Amino acid sequence: MSVAALPKVELHLHHEGAAPPAFIRQLAHEKKIDLSRIFRADSTYEFRDFAHFLLVYDAACEVLQTPEDFRRLTLAILEESAANGVVYTETFVSPDFCGGGDLKAWQEYVHAIHEAGDEAERKFGITMRSVVTCIRHRGPDLARLSAHCAAETAGDRIVGFGMGGNEGMGKQGDFAWSFDCAREAGLRLTTHAGEFGGPDSVRDAVRDLGVERLGHGVRAIEDADLVHELADRGIVLEVCPGSNVVLGLYPDIAAHPIQRLREAGVKVTVSTDDPPFFHTTMAREYEMLNAAFGWEEPDFAEINKTALHAAFCDEDTRARVA
Ligand code: ADE
Ligand code: ZN
Repeated sequence: MSVAALPKVELHLHHEGAAPPAFIRQLAHEKKIDLSRIFRADSTYEFRDFAHFLLVYDAACEVLQTPEDFRRLTLAILEESAANGVVYTETFVSPDFCGGGDLKAWQEYVHAIHEAGDEAERKFGITMRSVVTCIRHRGPDLARLSAHCAAETAGDRIVGFGMGGNEGMGKQGDFAWSFDCAREAGLRLTTHAGEFGGPDSVRDAVRDLGVERLGHGVRAIEDADLVHELADRGIVLEVCPGSNVVLGLYPDIAAHPIQRLREAGVKVTVSTDDPPFFHTTMAREYEMLNAAFGWEEPDFAEINKTALHAAFCDEDTRARVA
């Protein structure tokens, strides 16, 4: 069997960032919003670097205005994930794009998203759980609103809290209140760290936010002591190799540290981040890792076991997906 066809567990997928360009263009057309500036002639998303990527991301989100838009989005992204062999996915959903932090509005978005999740489970055989995500460059005050929304809707579908956005803005610890609030509500925690920030950002995330997983985390490789610490503590990395290459962290997959982190005993998993932005899919990530490092079925079986173990869902769901 080709590695692309294996069943897959994905822990790091941005709900809006997974939107197929054709879907965003269709909504833009329906709402008469001009988004031509964010697309290349071949209809792929156009950006120069990470800062520009975040702007293009926000622009694409302009068309996602109602719970119904998110219902359609959810079906579209889960159909695509399932077609790539994904059987379980955790998507990052931001109250910032779903009602702007207003709890009542957020509850309506959550309802629509999870109704679509149920429909996708029946139709495509994929299980989705959600990690509510604050956006770092929007600052700690908006993050508090997101944490409040997350805490109020925590349950068997909303299972985690995390943070994305520009790692260069502020410190991880500025968001400690939000992570504490989410933890007290029973949510499990992850944050983007060690993507554009170096080893100190990874240390801060573990120490100041108490996360058990890290979005990316790959720049920990720059500090051998930190690599040992992550391995010892069993911190799980949500590694997105294709994203890291397209955003310029590494020149190609062969230069990516996922193999070295794994060899050092760090728990690594594989995800796509924002697949259409980075011209990737889960099948493609597997193929690239197979080509670069010779990973075969037993390697991916181990990666998926790690991912399922680190998933934030309840035990019943884990057993059903396994
Ligand atoms: N939001 C969406 N994709 C992201 C990434 N790769 N890093 C930080 N924030 C993001
Ligand atoms: Zn991400």
